Amino acid sequence: MSPSEVPPRPPGTGFDRDLTHYGDVGFASYLRRTFTKSMGYTEDSLSRPTIGIVTSESGFNNCHRQMPELVEAVKRGVMLAGGLPIAFPTISLGEAFLYPTSMKFRNLMAMDVEEMVRAQPVDSVVLVGGCDKTVPAQLMGAFSAAKPAIQLVTGPMMTGSYQGERLGACTDCRRFWGRYRSGEVTQPQINAVEGRLATTAGTCAVMGTASTMACIAEALGISIPGSAAIPNVHADRLRAGEHSGALAVDLARTGVAPSEIVTKDSVVNALRVLLAIGGSTNAVIHLTAMSRRLGLSFSDEEFNSLSDSTPVLVDLKPSGEHYMEDFHNAGGVPAVFRELGDLMNLDCTLVTGQTWRQVLDDWDNWRDESVVHSLAQPVSPVGGIVALSGNLAPRGAILKRSAASEELFESEGRAVVFESLDDLANRIDSPDLDVEPDDFLVLKNAGPVAAAMPEAGYIPIPKVLAERGVKDMVRMSDARMSGTAYGTIVLHIAPEAAAGGPLALVRNGDRIRLSVRSKSLDLLVADDELDRRRRAWTPSEQEPDRGYSLLYREHVTQADQGCDFDFCIPSDVGGPA
Ligand code: FES
Ligand code: MG
Repeated sequence: MSPSEVPPRPPGTGFDRDLTHYGDVGFASYLRRTFTKSMGYTEDSLSRPTIGIVTSESGFNNCHRQMPELVEAVKRGVMLAGGLPIAFPTISLGEAFLYPTSMKFRNLMAMDVEEMVRAQPVDSVVLVGGCDKTVPAQLMGAFSAAKPAIQLVTGPMMTGSYQGERLGACTDCRRFWGRYRSGEVTQPQINAVEGRLATTAGTCAVMGTASTMACIAEALGISIPGSAAIPNVHADRLRAGEHSGALAVDLARTGVAPSEIVTKDSVVNALRVLLAIGGSTNAVIHLTAMSRRLGLSFSDEEFNSLSDSTPVLVDLKPSGEHYMEDFHNAGGVPAVFRELGDLMNLDCTLVTGQTWRQVLDDWDNWRDESVVHSLAQPVSPVGGIVALSGNLAPRGAILKRSAASEELFESEGRAVVFESLDDLANRIDSPDLDVEPDDFLVLKNAGPVAAAMPEAGYIPIPKVLAERGVKDMVRMSDARMSGTAYGTIVLHIAPEAAAGGPLALVRNGDRIRLSVRSKSLDLLVADDELDRRRRAWTPSEQEPDRGYSLLYREHVTQADQGCDFDFCIPSDVGGPA
């Protein structure tokens, strides 16, 4: 449709939308037009649907460095389709630059997005984001705001290279740091590598949290198909921007809300994709939070039954070998959908108006089998992540089995306990630490209430063991782990220690059993002894707080509820009535 054929927009939409008035609607509308005139808009512009472009660029967000160019492409798409694009900023969460952890601010950004999308006169929005917490925050907010929305990610970085070896942030960051700690890599070498790991704009180059969330948004149908893996600097990324802008104009006209796209069936599709791509553990928390905003939930049992019936097909770091640019070239998320075939709900409708079945009918059949394996020859016959439960994790925990050591899947060990993040920092490299390779490292008080759940679950191998060549051992905590990390690491133990979960009761020398086969995590201490310890336990003194920190601590939920604020969750999935 050319702009001249665009039908007039209905009353109460565009710049006339959501008018605050105190009885005199005409005056309110006249006042708003006065101020829009001050921005130079013509009557023609103001007669169009208004498409909000939610931007999140910041000098503290390397992953969003190219966002201005991408936003220009979105605006072009909006205008070519006859809409008026209006970009506006929200806060931005650059993973590496936020103290104490970006996780503390995901809910703040979600509130910012929700309230600004709701408050401003937009008919639909394009959410432009990329770095780890940004996509979940934008989708949580947009789902609650309930206006038509489409997600556009910034896309992954390209890889770098050092002495002939391909490098990508940030699995290779960790690999080289491990080699440096064990003395294999020298100081000048690690200094040189530092400049080769992240060499373009875009999100981390592996299947970390950002890439996983991009794939999840695509699987949910809220992004355009094939867009998750397009590298940030690739021309296709700009075309995806233009296309997203045009679709947002369609959405403004049809009024299709996110709840009509994101259903239980599409959440199941997203979970299957998460499992098949060997995606980030963080995505379980984010997808839980996003789904619950729409009143949708899934149990640990559902999750494990999907995990046991969904093979890992995508061979990407940190579970495999390749990088996001390879995944894009290999066919991306649609190739995964095609391979998973009947396991997927192909009749789910996407933001484009098509079903997945229609998308696949038109999609290029080609796929690079070294990156996207076939169902017949998967990377692993079962999914990348499992949910665990037991007397140490009554409300669950998770383990990324695709990035763990299989010989540790059925194991029992002696607990070596760190009471807090400070305790860990003070003792992990001590030459006097009493620790053996078959011990279990246990970190407490790093959960949502205690510490805003940082990515501290990737507990380093103690120096005394790293120097002996130990590369992996069982580690567990109430913390999260970076999506780019790997190891036999149990995460998200709920309830957390600071909330009085059984994790708080573990002592040095206790025996713990991990069984991936039976999906269990148990503290092998008699019930009466645990009762005694529970009675003696007191919550540790919290620093006095104010402002957002106080709001966060008082209202953040545990990992099994997605760490959302209790007051943001609809009552039908456990929020306030
Ligand atoms: Fe932004 Fe990794 S730091 S995605
Ligand atoms: Mg990350």
